[in-house]
Amino acid sequence: MKNYVSASVLSADMLDFRNEIRKLEKSDIDMLHFDVMDGIFVNNITFGLPVLQQVRKATDMTLDVHLMIADPLKYVKKFADFGADMISFHIESQSDTMETIKAIRECGIRTALAIKPATPAEDVFEYLPYLDMVLVMTVEPGFGGQSFMPETVDKIRKIREKANSLGLETDIEVDGGINDKTASIVLNAGANVLVSGSYLFASDDMKTAAAVLKEGELC
Ligand code: DX5
Ligand code: ZN
Repeated sequence: MKNYVSASVLSADMLDFRNEIRKLEKSDIDMLHFDVMDGIFVNNITFGLPVLQQVRKATDMTLDVHLMIADPLKYVKKFADFGADMISFHIESQSDTMETIKAIRECGIRTALAIKPATPAEDVFEYLPYLDMVLVMTVEPGFGGQSFMPETVDKIRKIREKANSLGLETDIEVDGGINDKTASIVLNAGANVLVSGSYLFASDDMKTAAAVLKEGELC
């Protein structure tokens, strides 16, 4: 499967957002990862619909929206209308999982189900035929810049094996603490979409940093 890098703009300079987006475009970054937090599902509050709308106007990049909100079903259509190309929502949220999957699919965009570190891999199995992607959180959702949790690796492997056994080419995205050291661990376990915030934005050469992530080099 092809590997992709999705840049988490939580680590971007918000006062220079347009130039940060240009930098991503020039660095062969595949997707822009947009972390929406509501202060209820997670403690932190980030950005939402009006910012996404502006970002949509500023770029043709694939917008990978990660909803860390209590009631995603209420908002998925709005996020799709405002420019999301793919939406991940959490199985641990209060919305009905199947109904939310259907609502995203009806918008004609890519559909992903996210799980927190404590949620077992098996919980997503029944939904795999209806999903384009599973997002395995490799840190507790809420903040950028945390350390990768190695105990999540086995879940990636289990989900990849299950998808293979069903004949599905489901993308598996990982999010949190992904850098030049941890990329090869998650790629070897079966992940193929790597979210990275602090590592990418702290690098002097983002294009090389993204290539390193995709190839899991230097590890
Ligand atoms: C955490 C977010 C991540 C985060 C990743 O809740 O979902 O997308 O920004 O940042 P790094 O790469 O710094 O761990
Ligand atoms: Zn995220």
